[in-house]
Amino acid sequence: MSFQLPKIPYEQTALSPTISKETMDFHFGKHHKAYIDNLNKLLEDSPLKSATLEEIVNKSSGGMFNNAAQAWNHTFYWYCISPNSQDYKPSDNLDKELTKSFGGKDKFLEQFSASAMGNFGSGWTWLVKDSSGKLSIVNTSNADTPITKGLIPLLTVDVWEHAYYIDYRNARKGYLDAFFKSLNWKFASERFDANEVFNCTAVMK
Ligand SMILES: [Fe+2]
Repeated sequence: MSFQLPKIPYEQTALSPTISKETMDFHFGKHHKAYIDNLNKLLEDSPLKSATLEEIVNKSSGGMFNNAAQAWNHTFYWYCISPNSQDYKPSDNLDKELTKSFGGKDKFLEQFSASAMGNFGSGWTWLVKDSSGKLSIVNTSNADTPITKGLIPLLTVDVWEHAYYIDYRNARKGYLDAFFKSLNWKFASERFDANEVFNCTAVMK
């Protein structure tokens, strides 16, 4: 069975004004959908056609990797924000680790923002956990994703211009400030505790 746009846990108008309906229409409905459609087409004659999205990302290269990784990154991204963010905070376990690694949640957000601002061109900025449990912030370019390096993503922000140009024009900082106020700390805490890569396949079939 081919992949579909993920079931996201909110209405497409629910993130406004942080992310407008128009941005959802383009970013989710066109950009994200195009990666999935392209991937499905490339999988038709591929030995990977029955693989999970996570397996495809880890085993493919070239055009298939670019579309599979972008399909995965975007699905993960939509779970990193929530219209209910004001109700969520990092779990005690995650909070302790944020303090150990960055000096606390607010200091983490400052460093996350600086890293996302410095991520040149198109890419993604991530909060990840490594196999020893240590947290770090990593930037990736274009479609690259930390799951191919054995890292467990807890949060991401898309810094491709298509993520913010409709709502914020060239003001990446304005987008980041608003995005960070809508972070889904419940999701990040679940990722931290689960200690495994999020199963995007499960919400895209
Ligand atoms: Fe994007």
